[in-house]
Amino acid sequence: MKAPLLILALSTLPLSVSANPFAKGDVMAGEKLHKELCQSCHAKRFGGDGSRIYTRADRRVKNAEGLKQQIATCNSMLGTQLFPEDEVNLGAYLNTRYYKFK
Ligand code: HEC
Repeated sequence: MKAPLLILALSTLPLSVSANPFAKGDVMAGEKLHKELCQSCHAKRFGGDGSRIYTRADRRVKNAEGLKQQIATCNSMLGTQLFPEDEVNLGAYLNTRYYKFK
């Protein structure tokens, strides 16, 4: 398992832009996709509706870039080949609802 290490390394890189990279995302579309594709697997591991994965004290994602990376990682686990705009929509939803990165 090399991927988690890579993500860890990437998420500690200094951010060159502070603008919210999900500003153009469609939160509603992201929420729908999240319900269809993402929620059940997180729920299996974390119980309830799975949202604890985003709010736990030791959550992995620390900044917007990290969120982008993690969405891409989970997407590749799913093997669904989401379009880049789907990932932006998912990011917009997760950031608006849980992470609130600027
Ligand atoms: C096959 C199971 C599975 C699916 C499907 C899945 N994930 Fe995940 N996801 C995980 C696991 C496991 C973790 C926790 C990794 C850890 O804690 O080391 C995780 C963690 C995350 C995190 C980081 C949470 C934190 O700690 O801050 C985000 C964000 C995330 N997933 C987004 C998504 C999105 C978006 C989708 C749908 C496109 C998705 N995941 C689909 C298994 C999955």
